[in-house]
Amino acid sequence: MTEPLRIGVAGLGTVGASLVRLLAQNGNALAHRCGRPVRVVAVSARDKSRDRGIDLSGIEWFDDPVAMAKSANVECVVELMGGADGKAKDTVEAALAAGKSVVTANKALLAKHGNALAALAETTGAQLNFEAAVAGGIPAIKTMRESLAGNRVERVAGILNGTCNYILSRMELEGLPFEAVLADAQRLGYAEADPTFDVGGFDTAHKLAILASLAFGTAIDADAVYVEGIASIAPLDLRMADELGYRIKLLGVAERTATGIEQRVHPTMVPKTSAIAQVMGVTNAVSILAEPVGELTLVGPGAGGNATASSVLSDIGDIARGTRLPAYGVAARDLEATEQAPMQRHEGGYYIRLSVLDRPGAAASIATRMAERQISLESIVQRKPPQATGQKASGPVPVVLITYATTEAAIRDALDAVMADGHIAEPPQLIRIER
Ligand code: NAP
Ligand code: HSE
Repeated sequence: MTEPLRIGVAGLGTVGASLVRLLAQNGNALAHRCGRPVRVVAVSARDKSRDRGIDLSGIEWFDDPVAMAKSANVECVVELMGGADGKAKDTVEAALAAGKSVVTANKALLAKHGNALAALAETTGAQLNFEAAVAGGIPAIKTMRESLAGNRVERVAGILNGTCNYILSRMELEGLPFEAVLADAQRLGYAEADPTFDVGGFDTAHKLAILASLAFGTAIDADAVYVEGIASIAPLDLRMADELGYRIKLLGVAERTATGIEQRVHPTMVPKTSAIAQVMGVTNAVSILAEPVGELTLVGPGAGGNATASSVLSDIGDIARGTRLPAYGVAARDLEATEQAPMQRHEGGYYIRLSVLDRPGAAASIATRMAERQISLESIVQRKPPQATGQKASGPVPVVLITYATTEAAIRDALDAVMADGHIAEPPQLIRIER
């Protein structure tokens, strides 16, 4: 009988507890498929007394995950604590330095230290696997690293954060307020320990930086990602998007352009009839455009204990099988520096919502500022401001402009001029359009 792979699990929260439960339930099937049993021999979390609904009898407990990583009884470390630094980094480094393979779901850690960790793993002959770090249960990493190894990737894009897609979906379909839906996402185990990472777009940026490395053979460079989150999306924007035939999604996009590699995360208006617009709730989608395969799109659950643990199990299975691959598809020393395309050169259509003061000439002046910069308007929609029945409208009027393709530099310059003219009551809302 083959000796079991002895794993130590650091972190027994949403993902860690699901992993231990699934290994107890499906461990035999995994052993059958990868030709070697997998046994949890050690665990670590902060609070030993907490009931996690899992059976930990016969498993060694460590208060300190770094001590667990160094334990002679642990062969492979599964890091499910989270955080870019601190114990997560120390634990992963201790394991890799000792030549022990690591499985992690921690995209924040990889976005910040992924290059150094991959180099360390290669030095000691350890494997670093992280399928669960991007798009939860979707096998996006394996697809990019292995299945598309013979392709040249031009673009990788998608909905990479379950929490944000869940929030936008329920705000749009049920008219619920942002805070209430975020609280539900936290209760369901979708959100990060600090949900600012989700709603601020940073979690999507971490995942996009990892995908970009795999796509373009570049070192991870999370600082090169332009990031906007969803906190500024108002119910009025969702209603206007619906009326104009769009849906708002938080997209991450990394693509080769004439000016370098563009990496951007921002709320995006997508046509309601497009495939990406149909991706609702906690579901994620990763779309890859590559030569010679063409475009392929993977859709599935992007967050949650079981979906994420499914990806962790796949990584553990690969380690039990003895599969050895460079973390980002090519050796860490061969990863190139990212040639970053400036966001100001981005080209596309824009949705602009202005809160216009009700004065003669205001609308004409806004149109002039756009025309001066060769920005063509596809449509202009003016809404009545909220008012008491029978009373004359007063206060600012919402005006929405949809532009044809222009550059980020031109639109920013035009909006600066509109603000300087003093016709608007608050900073403009700007949402990019992907058609
Ligand atoms: P979580 O529910 O907050 O669980 C974190 C676990 O880590 C807890 O068990 C906690 O212990 C333990 N922990 C934290 N600091 C520790 C320390 N210093 N020493 C020992 N244990 C420590 O987090 P999660 O949602 O499972 O996420 C875990 C990781 O997976 C994160 O990197 C996250 O980004 C990633 N991820 C999560 C999802 C998801 O849907 N939740 C999906 C993909 C990836 P206590 O329980 O005792 O407090
Ligand atoms: N907080 C993350 C999300 C977890 O909502 O997508 C999965 O990475």
